[in-house]
Amino acid sequence: MVNKSLNVLVTGAGGGMCKGINARLAAQGHHVICVDLDLERSQAAAQEVISNGGTATAFAADVTDESAISALRQEIERTIGQVQVLVNAAGILDRKYLADSDGDSFRRAIDINLVGPFLLIKEFAGPMTANGWGRIVNIASIAGTTGYPYPSYAASKAGLANLTRSLLEDFWGTGITVNNICPGVVDTPMVIDEVRAQVRRRVPTQNIIQPEEIGAMVNFLISDDARNINGTDMLIDGGATKLFSLFNNHEG
Ligand SMILES: NC(=O)c1ccc[n+]([C@@H]2O[C@H](COP(=O)([O-])OP(=O)(O)OC[C@H]3O[C@@H](n4cnc5c(N)ncnc54)[C@H](O)[C@@H]3O)[C@@H](O)[C@H]2O)c1
Repeated sequence: MVNKSLNVLVTGAGGGMCKGINARLAAQGHHVICVDLDLERSQAAAQEVISNGGTATAFAADVTDESAISALRQEIERTIGQVQVLVNAAGILDRKYLADSDGDSFRRAIDINLVGPFLLIKEFAGPMTANGWGRIVNIASIAGTTGYPYPSYAASKAGLANLTRSLLEDFWGTGITVNNICPGVVDTPMVIDEVRAQVRRRVPTQNIIQPEEIGAMVNFLISDDARNINGTDMLIDGGATKLFSLFNNHEG
């Protein structure tokens, strides 16, 4: 199945991390269906893939809009064919501590980071089940595996990770696998300079992760080699969340 070109839908396709995801998918010969909030962002992402010799198509959709997602599936099936792989990468990081948050800001993060992937999965899992094969990759975060200062982000990503595990029952025997990628600090516009400056002292590998590394992990998860990897968290954080140390010998 995976040796042939697949139709891969990527949400948040115009974002920093998706630059690497789109490029790696296209290099593998897959057709990248770029979905982002506005058409210009999606088109720019698709154009970049095409300029580098790949194939891609652009669509605009808000991942929180159930009817827009339904219309998106119909339009993709009419113009391209069925989606075999779904990568949920659209997301927001609202840098608000509890005191600065309110119900609306909290709900917005949950809506985009958790309800969005749920709606996409619900819409696209049907055809995957009918085909007897599908791959779903959710971009969660290390912020969902540990506590994190911004509660809406942490809660939404923890929710996404557990949504993933909970779908194993639904997808039992369907040929669909569903996994999380939990990145640490990735070199995208989402990451502010103060965080980048901390990487040398907080991350054992001392590297900021490149978007292409996330793309490589997506490619692996949709490959035949990963056909028995299901319901798991693929952690890519340079070891940052695996070490608790009361010493900091890495200042300066
Ligand atoms: N950058 C990091 O260090 C990092 C680490 C862990 C996880 N993540 C996650 O990776 C994913 C990609 O992050 P990024 O760094 O590329 O961020 P980014 O801000 O560069 O890209 C996010 C994209 O999502 C799109 N988007 C936002 N709301 C949307 C909506 N309602 N509908 C459709 N599209 C929408 C934006 O337009 C944007 O293109 C996010 O889910 C993020 O939470 C990022």
